[in-house]
Amino acid sequence: MGESIHVPLAALFPGASFSGASAKGNAPASSLGGLRGGRTFYIETFGCQMNEHDSEKVAGVLLRRGYRQVASPDEAGLVFYNTCSIREKAAQKVFSRLGEFNPKNNSGRDSGKVIGVLGCVAQQEGEQIFERAPWVSLVCGSASYRKLPLLLARLEAGERRVTGLETDTDETFETELTRRDHPFRAYLTIIEGCDKACSYCVVPYTRGPERSRASDSILREVRELAEVGYTEIQLLGQTVNSYRDPSNRHLTFSELLLAVAEIPGIRRVRFLTSHPRDLGGDIVAAIDASPALCDHVHLPVQAGSTRVLRAMQRTYTREEYLEKIGLIRRARRPISITTDIIVGFPGESEQDFEETLSLLEAAQFDGAFSFQYSPRPHTPAAVMADPVPESEKLRRLQALQERQRAIQLRRNQGLVGEVFEVLVEGASRRETQWTGRTSSNRVLNFTSSRTDLLGEYLRVRVTGAGPNSLTGEESIE
Ligand code: 5AD
Ligand code: SF4
Repeated sequence: MGESIHVPLAALFPGASFSGASAKGNAPASSLGGLRGGRTFYIETFGCQMNEHDSEKVAGVLLRRGYRQVASPDEAGLVFYNTCSIREKAAQKVFSRLGEFNPKNNSGRDSGKVIGVLGCVAQQEGEQIFERAPWVSLVCGSASYRKLPLLLARLEAGERRVTGLETDTDETFETELTRRDHPFRAYLTIIEGCDKACSYCVVPYTRGPERSRASDSILREVRELAEVGYTEIQLLGQTVNSYRDPSNRHLTFSELLLAVAEIPGIRRVRFLTSHPRDLGGDIVAAIDASPALCDHVHLPVQAGSTRVLRAMQRTYTREEYLEKIGLIRRARRPISITTDIIVGFPGESEQDFEETLSLLEAAQFDGAFSFQYSPRPHTPAAVMADPVPESEKLRRLQALQERQRAIQLRRNQGLVGEVFEVLVEGASRRETQWTGRTSSNRVLNFTSSRTDLLGEYLRVRVTGAGPNSLTGEESIE
């Protein structure tokens, strides 16, 4: 496929707000015979940044083919749900959305629409989706997105049901056009799929094997993004630091980071998610060497007990993980570390859980996403004996979150009085109030007497701290 070209939202919808795009606009005549709303589409995304970014690419593919994006399913001829199945609750959500289109249901929405299920639930459930929701026409997992134009063409030619469910591809999903949602931050997938085999995780099954994108193609796209005004790049992958350049240049991940950070106009480079096994000193050295590489590493630990880590097949022990933390903490500039933790993995004992609590103290994370274990289909953990009652798992989750909150509050309070560069991301209702992010990925809400600050980089003095954010005022030195 051709080059990725960024087209800013405003260029696609000149003078019109996104939600104002009308289904009766001047779109080409529909060849999806009888569809209300013509060649219009609506897409809703669940789950992680990878999914958010996949939706931006799917939107690009559709726009290229003359479809227009609308803000609600009611206005759309084509309704896509890009789904997440990492935990049971996320997976259930899509079926409740699909239920809204059940023609038998009185409150059912217009069944003349083409309904498509994309992403991880599509891959996980496959054609069974047609059984549960016969009004669905398209089921396509992320490893088959390159086939989307073909699948759409088959639907346009009158086929009732089409699927793209293969995962044995070595291709990445690159599009001629990516319709990006954010005005100054651009996501870029550099590695898709996952070759790790964590015993609780459905991702290797739903996203297929690891495939990296060639470094030349990544760098070319970043240069194009910088030229049209993007200043922050987020490199994405389930295990982003397992990146292996398939081209002759054979850039390592840390070399790629440095090359992206050197592109004129790029002021911030983030990357997530890192796997502890592949986090080496070269990545820390790269962050030290280049101010444009953000001082933040997201490094999921998942559990604090080596026994549970082994059962999770995480490929490292508690001690090895803490050595990685030590490596990051020895950097010349402070690097913030965030993590993911699962509580209530099958057979997790009180002692195991205590080890997770003590790891929080040892690692001093700046943020943690914590989840109660959720059994997933096709995973080895789903069939492990699990005597721990749900109520106990919930108690552990709450205890962990309380402990982590206290750590974050203490760490954030230690920043009061310091000055940070902030990328301004939003305005609050009061005119003088703004919100931005530090390089370390902390939210900093601040006051400034100036207007039009969106997308600007400013220096802000921290005056107050909570567990999840900082407050401050613009620092005029
Ligand atoms: N149950 C609960 N949490 C899970 N995660 C992945 N699989 C599961 C599961 N089966 C969490 C991990 C991962 C994050 C994205 O979601 O912590 O890092
Ligand atoms: Fe899932 Fe483990 Fe791969 Fe992360 S590294 S996506 S948790 S299998």
